[in-house]
Amino acid sequence: MATEPAQAAEAYHPRPMGGPWGLKISGIGAALPEKVLTNADLTAWMDTSDEWIRERTGIGERRIGGSTSGLSTEAAQLALADAGVEASEIDQVILATTSPDHICPGTAPAVARELGILAGAFDLQAACSGWVYGLIVANGLLLQGMDKILVIGAETLDRITDYHDRGTGILFGNGAGAAVVERDTTGAGQLLSWDMGSNGNYVHILYADHGDVLQMDGKEVFRQAVTVMQRSATAAMDRAGLTADDIDLIIPHQANIRIVEAAWKRLGFDMDRTAMVLERTGNTSAASIPLALDHALSENRVEPGSTVMFLGFGAGMTWACAIVRWAG
Ligand code: COA
Repeated sequence: MATEPAQAAEAYHPRPMGGPWGLKISGIGAALPEKVLTNADLTAWMDTSDEWIRERTGIGERRIGGSTSGLSTEAAQLALADAGVEASEIDQVILATTSPDHICPGTAPAVARELGILAGAFDLQAACSGWVYGLIVANGLLLQGMDKILVIGAETLDRITDYHDRGTGILFGNGAGAAVVERDTTGAGQLLSWDMGSNGNYVHILYADHGDVLQMDGKEVFRQAVTVMQRSATAAMDRAGLTADDIDLIIPHQANIRIVEAAWKRLGFDMDRTAMVLERTGNTSAASIPLALDHALSENRVEPGSTVMFLGFGAGMTWACAIVRWAG
């Protein structure tokens, strides 16, 4: 049921521009719908097996159900509580999604309404790279004087996935991850470097038309994904003056474990320094990186001063890499 954000309307004031700035992720939240679709479930109607899917993708199960706005709201509430930040303090809501509730309007305003936020709210469509794009955009808004920004990645891919298709039906699932991204006035937390790119010549290898399901050339997506992950991570590390050994934790887009392993071989990364949740979520597109970050934080894999790399790629093609020095 919609609520009138009267309190937020009173509480929200644009803040003065400028001042010292750095970036810190002060809170994180994750939401997954309850309904689990296991590999074994898929074998009831598809010529496949749990063994094949696990070996070729690393996926054991995925979640279905829920709405993009509902999952976003749930994840954002957890992130706000984790950060100890009131909704009324949020200056901007960025919702990265490729499966919005409606074609128009965006889903972000509905999420903001549920949270009691009247600040700006917009959807960002960069497919599976979306949350990393959002983090980089948020850093720019902090530079312009904002203090606290919600960066959400959320998907209900079950609405555009044919679970009878052996290529795509084994991969995609629903979920949401949200982060409170704040200006860090101590300067300890920083976005050290970033890289964003796209190549529209590859639209045809992964797309969904209006009213239709995802179409994919799996082999070509695999090839391109390995190439752009290597290129983007290398560009970001070069800009920050870092090498593979300097990165404490890498949080890649969770699409296929074999894509990650192939890219890591070229980059000199190892799986011990990699956060993965793919096995129990499948590919949740824009939600996958914040979901993996949430899990990594729950296992205390990030500490003050850690150098964390977020590395995304997806339909478009798009890709993005952000290297963050974790705040205290
Ligand atoms: N279950 C069982 N067997 C399957 C299968 C399935 N779901 N899908 C394909 N096969 C079979 C094929 O029929 C083929 O059999 P054959 O050798 O007897 O002809 C064999 O497995 C290999 O098929 P292929 O299509 O070459 O599989 P693949 O190794 O390319 O794996 C993907 C398919 C989809 C798992 C893989 O291409 C992939 O993950 N690509 C990247 C997709 C991705 O990450 N997309 C999102 C990006 S954001």
